[in-house]
Amino acid sequence: MSERPVGVFDSGLGGASVLREALRLLPNENYIYYGDSGNAPYGDKSDDDITTLTMACIGKLMAMNVKAILIACNTATAASVSKVRQLMNQYSMPIISIEPAIKPACALPGTGKVFMMATLATTRLNRYLALQARMPDPSRVINIPCPGIVERVESGIFDEDAYDDLFDKYFAPYMGTAVDAIVLGCTHYPFIKGAFARNAKRYLRGNCTLIDGSVGTVRQLGRILDRYKLRNPIGTGRVEFHTSGNEAVLKPIFEKLLKQDI
Ligand code: DGL
Repeated sequence: MSERPVGVFDSGLGGASVLREALRLLPNENYIYYGDSGNAPYGDKSDDDITTLTMACIGKLMAMNVKAILIACNTATAASVSKVRQLMNQYSMPIISIEPAIKPACALPGTGKVFMMATLATTRLNRYLALQARMPDPSRVINIPCPGIVERVESGIFDEDAYDDLFDKYFAPYMGTAVDAIVLGCTHYPFIKGAFARNAKRYLRGNCTLIDGSVGTVRQLGRILDRYKLRNPIGTGRVEFHTSGNEAVLKPIFEKLLKQDI
């Protein structure tokens, strides 16, 4: 049992899509959120830069006396989770991290493709490519880097049609392709599900079921808290928000994202 908070980290506001599931599934925990919006997007940076930034943010959360760390950023996971785990071993700090949910997507019946949409870094990093290689038919998964989305979400733009120009670039090469599932492989994307669905209709065929990894990741957090006997029986789901960006601008967007099922 521990009443200390869980630290949640993302390159920016995207981790709120994981935190809102945590608040729903683990409501007796308290949380400290750190968004590195001052340095976002991570997805266009080198592995070394992403790792350095991730380690610095984890250091900040540890200084706030968290009991476990939830990396709510697919890009940080792909670039640095192995290194982070190695370094954290000495502190016995449990680390839970999100990865693109291609496993449940590939388990869906159908003969169509699975689109995995994520940052450029995630789609090219070995950790993710190894995960793809473990799928029953890796060639079913098409990786689509999506530069540009994160910056718009960070500026609080959520209108369905405000992303058409970006999707024109991502989907034009796949016009008419049959797609069973679209994996939202970046934690910023669940906030613009409407834009994904709208553009899937414009360009693709098939069910195009939208899948993200937040629920699976939060369930894993619950299991790890049990394993380490760290559950909080009396917490109230308190959330403390920290950012390396402009707090006055970002905090209201963060609160909106947490409350609404955007
Ligand atoms: N939200 C992050 C993810 O899940 C990355 C966003 C960024 O590029 O900073 O990958």
